[in-house]
Amino acid sequence: MPLQKVRPGTVHRLRPDISVLADSLEVPGIGHIPVNAFVLLGAEPVVVDTGLGLPDRNFVEALSAVLDPADVRWIWLTHPDRDHTGGIFDLLAAAPKARVVTTFIGAGILSCEHPLPLDRAHLVNPGETLDIGDRTLTGFRPPLFDNPATVGFFDDHSGVCFSSDCFGAPLPTADLAQADDVRDVAVEELRTAQLLWATVDSPWVQTVDVEKYLRTFDSLKDRKPDLVLSTHLPPAAGITGAMLDTLATAPSAPPFVGPDQAALEQMLASFQPDGGGP
Ligand SMILES: [Fe+2]
Ligand SMILES: [Fe+2]
Repeated sequence: MPLQKVRPGTVHRLRPDISVLADSLEVPGIGHIPVNAFVLLGAEPVVVDTGLGLPDRNFVEALSAVLDPADVRWIWLTHPDRDHTGGIFDLLAAAPKARVVTTFIGAGILSCEHPLPLDRAHLVNPGETLDIGDRTLTGFRPPLFDNPATVGFFDDHSGVCFSSDCFGAPLPTADLAQADDVRDVAVEELRTAQLLWATVDSPWVQTVDVEKYLRTFDSLKDRKPDLVLSTHLPPAAGITGAMLDTLATAPSAPPFVGPDQAALEQMLASFQPDGGGP
């Protein structure tokens, strides 16, 4: 029974130095979740996250449409969830000079799947920087996250923000999920979808001190990135203020409650041509 549609990834060249390896995953009842990885062509090339590890995906091959994988110097793993680590060990093998940019916790979690040699790790905490030859990247903790190892970053040269899971949104179609511009999605539809994602991915936001939570927006408000690149949203240009306004309401959004067993059985029945059970 297919619970997800499988689609080949798409490459978008957003700027001369930034490409998106766009993919998506359908989650029944939720929508199509974008799953992006990015390539930042600084003097030392950086790959940001490594996509899905599904059997029909080949991250290193997809990456080779943008650059020779052997030239990758940094793999910025925004956090070691499995929708971000799909191609990481294959890429480490294909890119002998590459190091994984993560935190101490991130390296530890990643090593539960496969040993990460510590000389292939480079630790960057929020607020610290990475020099990639022609620019620095400054790590930050996005307002919303689902993993304690999460570190997004600002490209100090272009101002672009890489926000990890934050700002994600399930979208109605795979085409929209893999679009090169989130403005293809209607404003109100995007707001609703981002709030849904916020409550699915970061349910803790509904228990926080709202004033303290809003202060975590400060680095985004100070830097005012014109382009925000989330793993789970098409590229978002020119709408950072609106997206922060949306996230500001997450503490009081309706909590997400997942399907129960009866709903799952209904779902399974709907996948059968004869309407019967599995
Ligand atoms: Fe995550
Ligand atoms: Fe994620």
